Amino acid sequence: MDSFLIKGGTPLRGEVEISGSKNAALPIMAAALLTPDPCVIRRVPNLSDVHFMGSILESAGATVKFQGDTVTIEAARVKGVGDYELIRKMRGSICILGPLLGRTGKALVSLPGGCVIGARPIDLHLKGLRALGAKISIENGYVNATARKLRGAELFLGGRAGPTVLGTANVLMAAVLADGVTIIESAACEPEVIDLANFLNAMGARVSGAGSPTLTVTGVRSLHGAEHEVIPDRIEAATFAVAAAATDGDVTIRGARADHLHAVLDKLREAGVSVERSGSALKVSRPGRLKAIDITTLPYAGFPTDVQAQMMVLMALTPGISIITERIFESRFMHVSELARLGADIAIEGPSAIIKGGKALSGAPVMASDLRASAALVIAGLAARGTTEVSRVYHIDRGYENIDGKLRQLGAKIVRQEAS
Ligand code: EPU
Repeated sequence: MDSFLIKGGTPLRGEVEISGSKNAALPIMAAALLTPDPCVIRRVPNLSDVHFMGSILESAGATVKFQGDTVTIEAARVKGVGDYELIRKMRGSICILGPLLGRTGKALVSLPGGCVIGARPIDLHLKGLRALGAKISIENGYVNATARKLRGAELFLGGRAGPTVLGTANVLMAAVLADGVTIIESAACEPEVIDLANFLNAMGARVSGAGSPTLTVTGVRSLHGAEHEVIPDRIEAATFAVAAAATDGDVTIRGARADHLHAVLDKLREAGVSVERSGSALKVSRPGRLKAIDITTLPYAGFPTDVQAQMMVLMALTPGISIITERIFESRFMHVSELARLGADIAIEGPSAIIKGGKALSGAPVMASDLRASAALVIAGLAARGTTEVSRVYHIDRGYENIDGKLRQLGAKIVRQEAS
């Protein structure tokens, strides 16, 4: 397994270009199963999760061709079955359930199971699909869904922690080919859902209200091929912004959507970080002292859970007490014990992390546990004195395109050690 060797203490400086969004690209690729025509999706990030999704679509009968950052998917015939071995490796692959059901009237997709950040149930996905008339059973670790014809319905998708992003995507993708009108209440408002709705509309679907809690879908008989460019990755942009602040650097982030980053930029500014916006570029620097702040993760447009771990590093470097409360996933603090190895003083109290910041971090060997936790460890290594080795970086390769190359371009001393 590859690892990163990071020599900390160099402020990041220069320009970095943001890739397409992983969490937008995955459901959009799955949506290509809804038509027999070819779909061309551009600005797709070169990530292991994206290639996994390609393999899953192939296992369902589609042909998938990657060329640079463009993927062409043609699902002339679809089998309705998602390969168990592939799906269990990536939770995001559950979003093939809705399109398979919509296109073929049947879907046999393995249950994705939990992961280190929490139980991650799919009850809301199934509730929404049942409301559209699907018969669903769980058998031998598979979701077995059938429907002679899906019918539009009014349904509510809110859960314990608010709306569900991939649950909304699944129900939306099933509803576009259903008979009649579907109204999804408490739909996720994330930009990735808007991007999916835009792609579906480009395919001939009739979806309105994306970006609001009420989605209205008027079913159509069939969809056609379409071309689409995926939105920039707001989490990657936020990660580089935090890395710039944590290393006391000066970084211009190009190709980001500031309008998708309000909550993150607001918190960075509250913490004393300067963020200047010019078109699609964001210039991030640290003009003075950092200030301790409190953050609570929430569904969009609130502060994203996917940036919680990275912000914790910045707060660990900031004198004073900061409290970060995680409201989306119940155990997304795996990075805390690893950050302690670098000298951070963080205590967990229920859903909150209490950070006594301002202690200098010093390099140590640490282990990545999930995607965003790994990003936090890399930022901590960049800000720490001495050398940090982050092992199991396959986690980070799932969601950050060429992160080590992009960081080197900003002056970071980071080397990938390939597993022998
Ligand atoms: N939930 C339920 N029942 C369900 C579905 C979700 O109770 O049927 C709960 C979850 O347990 C959680 C909350 O609802 O407490 C929100 O989960 P959501 O369904 O929105 O998460 P997701 O759609 O599975 C996507 C992203 C995650 C991101 C979350 C929240 C993809 C592929 N994944 O997951 O991204 O953290 O939304 O924004 O889009 C990441 O990129 O590192 C990542 C984990």
